[in-house]
Order: sequence, then C-alpha cells, then structure tokens
Amino acid sequence: METPEPWFAKWFDSPFYHILYGNHDQEEANSFIRKLVTFLKPLPNSVFCDLACGKGRHSRALRNLGFHTYGLDLSNNSIDFARQFEDDRLHFYVHDMREVFEEEKFDYILNLFTSFGYFDNQNDLLKTLKAVNTQLKEYGILLIDYMNVSKIKKSLKQSVTERIHRNGIDFHIKKTMSDGFVLKQIKFNHDRGAHQYTERVAAIELEDFQGLLENTNFKIQTILGDYQLNPYDAGTSDRLIIIAEKI
Ligand SMILES: C[S@@+](CC[C@H](N)C(=O)[O-])C[C@H]1O[C@@H](n2cnc3c(N)ncnc32)[C@H](O)[C@@H]1O
Repeated sequence: METPEPWFAKWFDSPFYHILYGNHDQEEANSFIRKLVTFLKPLPNSVFCDLACGKGRHSRALRNLGFHTYGLDLSNNSIDFARQFEDDRLHFYVHDMREVFEEEKFDYILNLFTSFGYFDNQNDLLKTLKAVNTQLKEYGILLIDYMNVSKIKKSLKQSVTERIHRNGIDFHIKKTMSDGFVLKQIKFNHDRGAHQYTERVAAIELEDFQGLLENTNFKIQTILGDYQLNPYDAGTSDRLIIIAEKI
C-alpha cells in the first residue's frame, strides 16, 4: 500500500498556501536578507543555500546582492515558478532537505520562515541537520529562522481562532497545541468546494535546538529574536533565529 503524501508536501505545493501567506513577500525578504548580510559579513565569493526556499524570495534577494545562490525545495510548483529567475548565479532544484544535495558545497545554509519541524519524528530532524552539516564547507554557517515556541505556548493555552480575507478567499484558522506540535487548521471555500489543510509544526524551543545542534556537530554562535535582528527573548521575541557554525 502506498504511504499517503504528508501534509507539508500537499499544502506548500498548493496555490492557497501562497495566497494565505502572500503578505510575506519579496520586500520582506529583501529587507531581512540585507540586514543578515550586513550582520554575517560573508566574503563576496560565498555560496549560499536557501533550504526550503519556496518560490525563492530570499534566494533572489541574495542573488541581487551578488552571491552565488542555490534554492532547494520539495514543492514542484514553487521551483517551477522560481526557475524563471535563474541565471549564472541563481539556481533552483526540487530537493528534500533530509537528503544531501552535494557535499561541502555551501558557505551558508539558510532555513527561513519556519521551514523545519514538519516531520513526525525526531530522526528526520536529526537527518536534516546531519545532511546540512555534510553540505557545508569547513566552518560553514547554518541559520535557522523558526517561530518562537516559548511565546506561542503562552498564547495557545486555549485554542485561538482567526479569520483572514485574502484574494477573495475567507480563511478560517484555528490554532492549538497538541502532543508537542503547533497545529494550524485552515478551512476555506473556493470554486464551490470546501477545503481543509492542517499545518503541524514541532514545538521546538531553544533548549531543544541546542540539543539537536550539539548532536549534529554545530556550535551555536548567535541567537536573535526578529527580522530587525534584535537579541532573542524567550517571552517576547517574534522569532527564534539561531546562527550556528559547523564544527
Ligand atoms: C513556510 S514555507 C517557507 C518558504 C520560504 N522559505 C519562504 O520564506 O518563502 C516552507 C517551505 O518548506 C518546503 N518544504 C517542506 N518540507 C520540505 C522538505 N522535506 N524538503 C525541502 N523543502 C520542504 C515547502 O515546500 C515550503 O516551500
């Protein structure tokens, strides 16, 4: 019997994900990448990987700053879209982050906008981080930009509902926490059909990341808390952004 496609393979490949999150656009990516590059000070010949790049908004921002960039993602539709921007320094490939794309290829691997923690088991998280380590050059840098679970936990003591109207679609959203995962149930009607997806993202907090990264030969260098690169505060930061070096 065939195993059913996991939620992340279906939802991120659908046009509805891109409509719901349409406000997280190229402008947001340009601004974040400009700040990151100022902070990280990469050498001009650095090679970047935008791991789980979606339609490639951060990859394009990196390329526009002159860096050789590879965008990798599981979604065929997103990579098809991104390929229109390819040139001699910007490449896109369909790729599963749990696998090694090429050994010791990248100076920086960026995993942005909560693009981790989708798998059911810890082994796949470790497999991903081990693959990242293998793909980094000596002293290469991994940056993970994740939701700040410590803050979300407080706001999700009870379920929270929200309605978002975008591109003519009314999205009805219900967020809860269950069994170590943050669940976001998304319901809407479109073309006379009722649609439903559920995002299921592991509730990984800083201490958990510390353990995972130690186990996969990374040393944490810096922890930031938002896209303005302010320091991380567990109770108040919007994001948990971890910068770690391959050891
Ligand atoms: C929240 S989106 C973020 C996309 C992009 N980083 C951005 O900021 O626009 C998460 C992305 O992870 C990708 N993804 C999910 N599972 C993956 C996997 N196993 N390997 C590679 N990419 C994956 C999805 O296809 C989706 O594009």
